[in-house]
Amino acid sequence: MSFPTHRPRRLRQSPAVRRLVRETHLVPSQLVLPAFVREGLTEPAAISSMPGVQQHTLDSLRRAAADAAAAGVGGIMLFGVPATRDATGSGADDPQGILNVATEAVVAEVGDALVVQTDLCLDEFTDHGHCGVLTADGSVDNDATLERYTAMGLAQARAGSALLGLSGMMDGQVAAVREALDAEGFTDTLILAYSAKYAGAFYGPFREAVDSQLKGDRRTYQLDPGNGREGVKEALLDVEEGADIVMVKPAMPYLDVLADVRASVDVPVWAYQVSGEYSMVEAASANGWIDRRGAILESLLGIRRAGADAILTYWAVEAAGWLRDEL
Ligand code: PBG
Repeated sequence: MSFPTHRPRRLRQSPAVRRLVRETHLVPSQLVLPAFVREGLTEPAAISSMPGVQQHTLDSLRRAAADAAAAGVGGIMLFGVPATRDATGSGADDPQGILNVATEAVVAEVGDALVVQTDLCLDEFTDHGHCGVLTADGSVDNDATLERYTAMGLAQARAGSALLGLSGMMDGQVAAVREALDAEGFTDTLILAYSAKYAGAFYGPFREAVDSQLKGDRRTYQLDPGNGREGVKEALLDVEEGADIVMVKPAMPYLDVLADVRASVDVPVWAYQVSGEYSMVEAASANGWIDRRGAILESLLGIRRAGADAILTYWAVEAAGWLRDEL
């Protein structure tokens, strides 16, 4: 009998060898925790479609941020849920608006221990739920929206946000916000561009989390799920406009786009493991159909392997704890 010339199994023979040859690693600092804070809440409120995730009060948000810092997580991304909304989303750039107040509170709590980040988009603040302001015929007005984004970006920077997550998918948003920040002296405020943000079904639970008012969809501004090249093009444009970091979102259904973007730009590339990705694993594990911890860590590792330098995930703190146990 002849022996196999190649024995790839040799590299898998023991935990020690497997650990030594592992190509991709996850560490807590590569995880960013998205967190929701709701104006006027007196107790944290459960989000039924996202078991384990809450709408925070200002106090519980501060505690969550402190816990994230203690767990070694890299950052926290804040989303505000205002008590009232209007056509232009005026709560977004009001210094007393919930997101700006929460940003100040979190920065005061954690200082530099976490990179405190804010979602820069109007959808939580508008009464129609779109990511921008509307024209008379009801379509989203790109250039008028840019003016709202620059006002919102400045308000967030003044509140102490270190990194603005531009998630509205308006053309020219990175350049507009960068210019406004620089003109006011916020030259160190980072811009994360949600470059390749796809319109689709995986944001469903998030809409409950922020009490979204949206009727209809975002298909005139978010990307068509069939288009990979267009995602790369958006990332290249955002880098040219001055984005410090680009992102692909959702993560798991778009790992090919993530790998292509990684190969096409030289800035950090992040991925957002969105609410629907979270809730699918939670629902399957609640039914005993999937090993929860295994599925969570495998999903994060897969997103890293595809090219993400960091990942926004609702499991950030819990996963960070597991990762530290493994070291
Ligand atoms: C827009 C925004 C959305 C998410 C993050 N930023 C909602 C949307 O585009 O409809 C979704 C995140 C998630 O589903 O976890 N502000």
